[in-house]
Amino acid sequence: MADPTPALSLSLLVTARQTVAEGIVLFKFQARDGGALPLVSAGAHLLLRTPSGLLRRYSLCNDPAERHRYQVAIKREPHGGGGSISMIDALQVGGHVTAAAPENYFALAPGATRHLLIAGGIGITPVLAMARQCLAAGTPFTVIYCARGPEQAAFLDVLGETAMAPHICTHFDGGDPARAFDFAADLKDVPAGTHIACCGPRPLMQAVRDATRHWPKDSVHFEDFGTSAPPAGGEGAFTVHLARSGGSVVVPHDLSILEALRRAGVSAPCSCEAGTCGECRVGLLGGQADHRDFVLNDDEHDTAIMICVSRAHSLELTLDV
Ligand code: FES
Repeated sequence: MADPTPALSLSLLVTARQTVAEGIVLFKFQARDGGALPLVSAGAHLLLRTPSGLLRRYSLCNDPAERHRYQVAIKREPHGGGGSISMIDALQVGGHVTAAAPENYFALAPGATRHLLIAGGIGITPVLAMARQCLAAGTPFTVIYCARGPEQAAFLDVLGETAMAPHICTHFDGGDPARAFDFAADLKDVPAGTHIACCGPRPLMQAVRDATRHWPKDSVHFEDFGTSAPPAGGEGAFTVHLARSGGSVVVPHDLSILEALRRAGVSAPCSCEAGTCGECRVGLLGGQADHRDFVLNDDEHDTAIMICVSRAHSLELTLDV
């Protein structure tokens, strides 16, 4: 099976760091040799090794046309796996990191005539790059940016610039779910040619998912690198049967199917491990899945499963693995 970790071929120097919102730090990188960096498109992310040795993915937020620098904004997650704490507490100007050439699983839909870009919290990072790309290309777009309050919202200065401001709608809910943005009302109509790109906490993505079930298939796109913890665990254990390779693996309540397979020596393609990129899709041959991803449409639920987040309603699943 393929090694899911690409080579960390880039050596990047930290040229600046700046707090851009409560608990959010913007890092600016350039190549250590001063050369041009690989070209990216909006929505791309950087896989880098943090000072603590962990591998983490962060969306690029600078103008995608820039070749002389990359920028990522990172939210310090005290209860995360330690990657963001390591970056923010240990990486200073003059320090360096190694990274893989950026990849993009969240690119703007090429056929769209208008983009609706929805961000929650730190999910603004890829959305900011998308907004910059739309502005440069003259593509119609609107950003809906949801946060607890202005103090927790990054890049309000950039979003308030003259050219950008007419495209931006901010919504602050004070952390009260009752005051959350009303996506059901806002996304009721389906403008022809419009594509949605959404990045944010899981409840926000779920609200967008629920509000767009009547939208055309493949017109709504999600990403979740580091914006919220995926629901890797569940209430009970179940067993997955591997139809092609043979054998069975028990998935305990505190592991995802993907992780249980790994521990059993069965590797599988994956990337986001958050149910948004589509990399870990596996054929579902039997059993009733508990789908928790933002990739599959309702009409695919009987035949496929995203094994990084989804679980089982039945005691057994049969997978095309
Ligand atoms: S690894 Fe991205 S959806 Fe599962």
